[in-house]
Amino acid sequence: ATESQEAAGFHPNQKLKLVISVGDHSGPMRVLVTGGSGLVGRAIQHIVKEEGGGKEGEEWTFLSSKDANLMNMEETRAVFQKHRPTHIIHLAAMVGGLFKNMRVNLDFWRNNIYINDNVLQAAHEVGVVKVVSCLSTCIFPDKTTYPIDETMIHNGPPHESNFGYAYAKRMIDVHNRAYFQQHGRYYTAVIPTNVFGPHDNFSIEDGHVLPGLIHKAYIAQKEGKPLVVWGSGTPRRQFIYSLDLARLFLWVLREYNEVEPIILSVGEEDEVSIKEAADAVVAALGFKGEVVYDTSKADGQFKKTASNAKLLRYLPNFSFTPFNKALKDTCDWFVANYDTARK
Ligand SMILES: NC(=O)c1ccc[n+]([C@@H]2O[C@H](COP(=O)([O-])OP(=O)(O)OC[C@H]3O[C@@H](n4cnc5c(N)ncnc54)[C@H](OP(=O)(O)O)[C@@H]3O)[C@@H](O)[C@H]2O)c1
Repeated sequence: ATESQEAAGFHPNQKLKLVISVGDHSGPMRVLVTGGSGLVGRAIQHIVKEEGGGKEGEEWTFLSSKDANLMNMEETRAVFQKHRPTHIIHLAAMVGGLFKNMRVNLDFWRNNIYINDNVLQAAHEVGVVKVVSCLSTCIFPDKTTYPIDETMIHNGPPHESNFGYAYAKRMIDVHNRAYFQQHGRYYTAVIPTNVFGPHDNFSIEDGHVLPGLIHKAYIAQKEGKPLVVWGSGTPRRQFIYSLDLARLFLWVLREYNEVEPIILSVGEEDEVSIKEAADAVVAALGFKGEVVYDTSKADGQFKKTASNAKLLRYLPNFSFTPFNKALKDTCDWFVANYDTARK
């Protein structure tokens, strides 16, 4: 073990004790955000702007796929060498809802494996001291006990609908542990539940459930038709507002010093059924028509209730935006930006 590993409590052939301190970084903190143009990336941009460009001594750069195709190692190295980051928030990924996942599991697996391997290796090569990557609660085992917590990622196969995405994301945790063990790197990951907010992908076919419902309800309202919800409406989900997630990301980047991942989620009591989510969209958009459930469509995993106990141990006073308020703000944003929104 290196000195820093020993200082962090790591001994070869022992279960890793991954509580670490990123104490060896001084000087300006150059933060590079991959996937900076997506739903989560735009939310982080918003919060950093609210802080007046980040805290003193921080410089922020947000990348999109136009800056570099991170599936390509040479492009990844070149963009990292250009910006010389000291810290990275790694969001870039091939992302999609249930129905897109079911169609192209191979693409989800390969694209995400390439992106993650390139980003973490290039980060190591340019000497990045901390990387915060992004997993998801939909990568946990399908058959599990509830609530799910951070120790259970690798305990069994994921739901068959998204196994490509799920296994690729799980491997980030393997990367992080191995970069720590072999190189003493402090690379970690967060595990958000379903994210929603402004700048989401509102595609009905390929997007996640909430933005898809918002878009469908918007069209149904305009055309005077029923809102058709896919599936039975019974599956349950925890939703986190992108701006709340962004605030938590900044805390993880600045203060969270474990290699082990941390679930970023509202409480178990705030889980809602798809029917409740659809009702909330109807209320937020003032939709007056009929709501019908197309039970010929897949439901996906029934639930993936996650525990935010670890987060609350660190941040007992964090206050989440109430779901209905966050949803109303998202619907208002979608209506105001209908022409340019991703859909
Ligand atoms: N949305 C959710 O509900 C959710 C839940 C849990 C975890 N997550 C995770 O959160 C992270 C961000 O997700 P999101 O919802 O913000 O996704 P998103 O809106 O689809 O944004 C994806 C981002 O990745 C970039 N990107 C995709 N492929 C790339 C490539 N080959 N090279 C470079 N950049 C590439 C995109 O750039 P362009 O804009 O140029 O295309 C975009 O900035 C992901 O890691 C995702 O797995 C999301």
